[in-house]
Amino acid sequence: MEASADRGTWNSRLGFIMAAAGSAVGLGNIWAFPNQVASNGGAAFLLVYLVCCFSVGYPLMVAELTIGRHTGRNPVGAFRALAPGSRVYALIGFWGILCGVGIHAFYNVIAGWTLAFVFEEVTYAAGATGLSQVLSDLSHGHKNALFSCLFMVATVTIVAGGVSSGIERATKTMMPALLVILLAMIAYVIFQEGSREGLRLYLQPDLSKINARLVLNAMGQAFFSLSLGIGTLITYGSYLNRKQNIPRAAAFVTGADISIAFLAGLLIIPAMFVAQSNGIQIFDDQGNLVSSTGLVFNTLPSLFHTLGPVGAVLGLLFFVLLSIAALTSTISLLEVPVAYLFDEWGMARRRAAIGVGIVGALLSLVVAYDPSWIDTLVNMFLNVGLPVGGLMICLFLGFVWKTQPALNEIEQGRPGTLTGPFGRLWPAFIKFFCPILILLVFLNTIGVLQWLFG
Ligand code: TRP
Repeated sequence: MEASADRGTWNSRLGFIMAAAGSAVGLGNIWAFPNQVASNGGAAFLLVYLVCCFSVGYPLMVAELTIGRHTGRNPVGAFRALAPGSRVYALIGFWGILCGVGIHAFYNVIAGWTLAFVFEEVTYAAGATGLSQVLSDLSHGHKNALFSCLFMVATVTIVAGGVSSGIERATKTMMPALLVILLAMIAYVIFQEGSREGLRLYLQPDLSKINARLVLNAMGQAFFSLSLGIGTLITYGSYLNRKQNIPRAAAFVTGADISIAFLAGLLIIPAMFVAQSNGIQIFDDQGNLVSSTGLVFNTLPSLFHTLGPVGAVLGLLFFVLLSIAALTSTISLLEVPVAYLFDEWGMARRRAAIGVGIVGALLSLVVAYDPSWIDTLVNMFLNVGLPVGGLMICLFLGFVWKTQPALNEIEQGRPGTLTGPFGRLWPAFIKFFCPILILLVFLNTIGVLQWLFG
């Protein structure tokens, strides 16, 4: 099964890796991750999160890319192709599209906040206080609506441009810029007063903080941050050529994603404490770190504002960076349904992108006017939708398509796979370890394990 030539392929190896890493790195790393760290007691969350990424995230990423490259299709088409004669498996693909659209609906609003803060930093520095207040008001419905629509237009424009000319070119330049700006900001914050306490909270795990909710959140966060569970990487893998080394590409993407999340935590948790030494409240009445959908958007601008002209420059850079990271992720969220319409219904890429973009924009209007939807959607899709999707993909690969043909596919770009340690370990992860771990996390959350074992 080869992808047809006019479907598009990545122009270069670097281009694919950058696009996949661009999909992974986004608001999940910089908005959601520090927030999860703050609300789940600091370093303990970081630890469980890393375990989830390596033990479940990485094997599943290899699985998605392999399914994608082998079939050369969108998720729905891929499951159809691998299980001809049975229609039920295509449901895994539809589940992915549903979750993708649901995630995009709230993601787009947060991306809109990010974009608004680019202008907020400028207007604040220019002394236009009234305007800057509107721009920083996260519950301002019309403002949210305007910026999320703008963001959707940007996303649609790139996706309509196609795989290599649009997505690849955009991400290639964005990613390195992002890393540099992040590092520069950490270097700055670390030397400010108060940052030490934040570093301690972030890096010294208190294992007594680990509980069912923390583990569920860490698992969901790992799926969300690595772009797993909905077939995004099946879709990106479908544009990949046979010579690519999938396990190595997946290792790079996982590594890049974890690193950026780690760095975002290293920036934002200490920054909260710096803000505190500047008189901003970061603990609630119960003595817990404040964490909310607004964390990054409340703490950091206040910090920037206390730093005068340096703060204005840092603030501007930060929100430009975050907008870029969000854009390379919304691109990949939109690409899944677009590839589906393109492959399965023969719709032109441009029309599909515009059509799905309009639906997405309408859904995000609901969230724009009532941001309390974000928590609900995060719960539905991150904590449940994505792990369920991942579970189904593992079981499908392990027991329907089977791991042997998958290994044969991997072997093409990585000779020696069949006989090496990867070839022995990975199938066990996909068939048993990952599904069991995901199930245990669910059972644990609904209290079944506690009920069974007291
Ligand atoms: N991983 C992205 C982030 O961290 C979000 C994202 C993009 C995503 N595509 C996805 C999440 C597919 C789940 C599935 O911001």
